[in-house]
Amino acid sequence: MLEKQTDLLIIGAGPGGYVASIYAAKQGLSVTLVEKEYIGGTCLNVGCIPTKALVKSAELYQELLHLENKGISVVNPEYDMTAIIEQKNQIKDKLVSGIAYLLEKYNVETIQGTASFLDDHLVEINGSEVVRVTAKDIIIATGSKNKHLPIPGIDLEVVLDSTGLLNNTKVPKSLAVIGGGVIGMEFAFIYASLGIPVTVIEFLPRVLPGVDKEFSARLLRYAKQLNIDIITQAKVLKIEAVGEAAIITYERKEKFESIEADLILEAVGRAPNIDGLGLGNTSIIHDLRSGIKVNSKLQTNVHHIYAIGDVTNLYQLAHVASHQGIVAVDNILGKTKEMDYSAVPAVIFTSPQIATVGKTEDYCKDNEISYDVIKVPFSANGKALIMEAEAGYLKLLANPTTKELIGGMIFGKEAEYLIATLTVAIQNHLTWEQLQETIFAHPTMSELIHEGAMGLDHLAIHFMD
Ligand code: FAD
Ligand code: NAI
Repeated sequence: MLEKQTDLLIIGAGPGGYVASIYAAKQGLSVTLVEKEYIGGTCLNVGCIPTKALVKSAELYQELLHLENKGISVVNPEYDMTAIIEQKNQIKDKLVSGIAYLLEKYNVETIQGTASFLDDHLVEINGSEVVRVTAKDIIIATGSKNKHLPIPGIDLEVVLDSTGLLNNTKVPKSLAVIGGGVIGMEFAFIYASLGIPVTVIEFLPRVLPGVDKEFSARLLRYAKQLNIDIITQAKVLKIEAVGEAAIITYERKEKFESIEADLILEAVGRAPNIDGLGLGNTSIIHDLRSGIKVNSKLQTNVHHIYAIGDVTNLYQLAHVASHQGIVAVDNILGKTKEMDYSAVPAVIFTSPQIATVGKTEDYCKDNEISYDVIKVPFSANGKALIMEAEAGYLKLLANPTTKELIGGMIFGKEAEYLIATLTVAIQNHLTWEQLQETIFAHPTMSELIHEGAMGLDHLAIHFMD
């Protein structure tokens, strides 16, 4: 058994842990990073990056099928599922090896193994050898894991979770998705864009319960066009094998109904991952459902132990985990920093995309917050017409008294890019007047933001506000 001392021990090398490691090492701390499975964590290996690689292939395939409007014809485009998965793996591997290289260059000592607390100060790492580490400060960044339904048939071979589906090379005749949350809807659009009929079974009255009702309602139109059938208010009860496929039985409005599917994705949420971490040997306040409790500085109740990312169960977003990593390290370095969640952007990579930042309209209504709102149709923008994106729109919310932007939402193509400007504006309390005074390049879809800022003042040029 080896013994080690370090300034900072970080457990988990996802976007929370690896970012915190590099940031701390660049500022002179000796950093030991422990990872039990893969550098890059869920996000790089089985989350954000691989799913978006599949989204890109699926969207390109759809574009090829509909190029006539652009004066181009492609005869019988085809795809190869094995090649799609292979290119996804190449992207992921390149990114992961890049991170491993940076960790090494910045002298982060990376140990492969499972970390477990023996008490509030001592952590044991079980890898190729056993290492006991004491550290001045510790950051827990162990992420989250897929939840599973306790129903008969959930272990059948045709039922995969998101990790399993990311490596599936079979082209199924049909896909059923249990859970219409973010993972479920992104995969539904990937498979449907590849021409596979998809049925989504959601427990709640609507899919994407985390976004404004208006967005999930609007997405249904696009889902239908792609042959995605959505069943809401349905409780899945059991799954039974029939040959190589399966029958899913669910209860809906006090009736039992069933559908058959060739392949099933189970995407019913993710829970904080504290498995095997030995938290019972510490005084850290935690529980299985809500993870590790932290204050606004990301500190647990044990003053030298911090927690960041999905394990805190505050947000399940990679960029939040990374930002929390930087704030935690700043606090360890003696700078007093607090997390500010008022401008957290989120992008859902369906087709069209949905992006939000700041307060939503539903939130303002539910909490009686007064706001001014403007909706800018993409059809008012030249570049959006070129991009065949005229069905989308951008929505801005502002404080009527201060004129500060408080919320931004985009439904449509390029939402992932437009949301960045709105995030900068909201984070920095910019007013619609300041946005009006900003020049946006032409012809770009970013002009929609200027148009929205003008519209909040009833001065929109390209549409009737
Ligand atoms: P993780 O990335 O989960 O990393 C935690 C790491 O800790 C893991 O590598 C794990 O092996 C390691 N670990 C756990 N326990 C121990 C231990 N005891 N000892 C040593 N190591 C340990 N977010 C977005 O922002 N955008 C997206 O597009 C997006 N897409 C997603 C798609 C899918 C299919 C999934 C599943 C998630 C997606 N997410 C997305 C969410 C995103 O992946 C997570 O929010 C993010 O990975 C959280 O980062 P983290 O560092 O907290 O944890
Ligand atoms: P989720 O919480 O977003 O959605 C789970 C869905 O499953 C919910 O709609 C829920 O009502 C439904 N559900 C639960 N039990 C059910 C049952 N028995 N039958 C039918 N439906 C049931 O969780 P999801 O989709 O697993 O994603 C986890 C997190 O990962 C997301 O919340 C998000 O933060 C992150 N993520 C982010 C992405 C992005 O930023 N683009 C992409 C994918 C994931």
